[in-house]
Amino acid sequence: MFRLPFLNKKQKQKIATIDNVPEHIAIIMDGNGRWAKKRGLPRLAGHKQGMDNIRTIVRTANKYGVKILTLYAFSTENWKRPKSEVDYILKLPKEFIHIYLPELIEENVQIKTIGAFDLLPAHTQEAVEEAKKRTEKNDGLILNIALNYGSRYEMVQAIKQITKDVQSDQLNLEELNEQVISNYLYTKDLLDPDLVIRTSGEQRLSNFLLWQVAYAEFWFTDVYWPDFNENVFEKALSDYQNRKRRFGGLSNNKSKQE
Ligand code: IPE
Ligand code: IPE
Ligand code: MG
Repeated sequence: MFRLPFLNKKQKQKIATIDNVPEHIAIIMDGNGRWAKKRGLPRLAGHKQGMDNIRTIVRTANKYGVKILTLYAFSTENWKRPKSEVDYILKLPKEFIHIYLPELIEENVQIKTIGAFDLLPAHTQEAVEEAKKRTEKNDGLILNIALNYGSRYEMVQAIKQITKDVQSDQLNLEELNEQVISNYLYTKDLLDPDLVIRTSGEQRLSNFLLWQVAYAEFWFTDVYWPDFNENVFEKALSDYQNRKRRFGGLSNNKSKQE
């Protein structure tokens, strides 16, 4: 069993009062299968438990004033898994929305997605589209689901579009810079992540937001995603507050680098 890193009351108060809360947290929700295996359950039970866990993490993020929570739910490489598992995972967004949408609306959450949306099954697209529509006017936490997301695929799509726009004189090659490239990515309306969390003991990006995490902080835990609770999340937030971000400069102040 893993020992969960609980915080004491004083540390919790520090998170609630201090202003250095990451604005954008991106989480690689890994370990559903191993969570299930450890309990003698089918992998799908792990995915279901993982889905339910999103509720807790959204509430905690909201509580601490996080602005954007990006959750890696399905990668462009996850199609390699058995069809039965893929089918099950791609039904979960609909189930999640069915159960939790009223609560998310009440909490002023706005749902967005990044990824190759048009390549998802129609039933997944329809459910998510409706949830996006019903939350588009909310201005609280952005719950951004990475669904059929792959960073390299995203970059290929961006390069194709940039090439087309240059060829049709919509974009001048001389004007191409980092900001312009960012505007061709799925994340164009979002700030880059401040903190990336990966659960389950793996320490890799697995094709997640390669461009966007250039200056993100990383936090890893052995805890499997379905066990990633409020206490573990608070530990990540607390550790983040003690990091010194310099962005290549000498101070901890983002604005001074610009
Ligand atoms: C993460 O859990 C969910 C997805 C990748 C869809 P996994 O299914 O990868 O769980 P493990 O890594 O096999 O334990
Ligand atoms: C990354 O987890 C993708 C998601 C969490 C959706 P994987 O389980 O697919 O990653 P690898 O295969 O271990 O790198
Ligand atoms: Mg995994």
